[in-house]
Amino acid sequence: MNNLTVNKEQRFYGRRKGRKLSESSQIALKQGNLFYIIKLEDFFKNENNSISQSLFEIDHKKIILEIGFGGGDNLANSAINNPDICYIGADPFLNTNAKLIKILLKNDIKNIKIWPDDIRKIIPLFPSGSVSEIKILFPDPWPKSKHKNRRLVQEIFIDNLYKILVPNGKITLATDHSLMKSWILEIFQSHKGYLWQANTITDWQNRPADCFSTKYEQKSFAKENIPSWFIFEKT
Ligand SMILES: C[S@@+](CC[C@H](N)C(=O)[O-])C[C@H]1O[C@@H](n2cnc3c(N)ncnc32)[C@H](O)[C@@H]1O
Repeated sequence: MNNLTVNKEQRFYGRRKGRKLSESSQIALKQGNLFYIIKLEDFFKNENNSISQSLFEIDHKKIILEIGFGGGDNLANSAINNPDICYIGADPFLNTNAKLIKILLKNDIKNIKIWPDDIRKIIPLFPSGSVSEIKILFPDPWPKSKHKNRRLVQEIFIDNLYKILVPNGKITLATDHSLMKSWILEIFQSHKGYLWQANTITDWQNRPADCFSTKYEQKSFAKENIPSWFIFEKT
């Protein structure tokens, strides 16, 4: 297990449950539980400390972690398009977990596992250098200054992500919120281990080729907000 910094103050402030789950969602959650849902003991299953071997049964070369997958638009499409990559998605919101599991069952997608809770609870269990890429698309902005500690992107958090990334691993973030744009840049640029991968304006104004459109990207277009896309590489 990694020796990571744990912030005991961290609490999850988002929603765990929305509208009452439909019968089909309840069935999907039950059906998906065994195969798709990550349990804590999965991290302690094998001796060689390989998360992909314990979670995916085969030791895949590449693991991509998506934090806050929401409706799963990016996660499911990425997994369909890249069957050789293992995807781990984390989101504590039960309703969207059910929505994603329905998509996975319908399309027989086998290269995704879901952590249905706060990602910060399992980051310390990942072996160092085990994740190739991390995506955080449209994290909740918590715009009021008095709520800034609720934002997911914090110094300690990105330092813990740094430890689980492979050398030259990258983190992709998207946001359409002007305050979050500055916040993300400020937090990442004050960490010495990350390099912002942007040379021209198009590098942060366009969705990267390896990301799919999500519900929150569509919402930003509807509001005529232009999303920014930030890629930081572990140096
Ligand atoms: C604004 S939504 C964006 C959803 C999706 N990425 C999209 O682009 O449509 C933010 C998501 O992050 C999830 N989230 C918030 N805090 C989280 C945490 N600590 N760990 C994992 N997911 C989290 C929320 O439940 C929510 O689904």
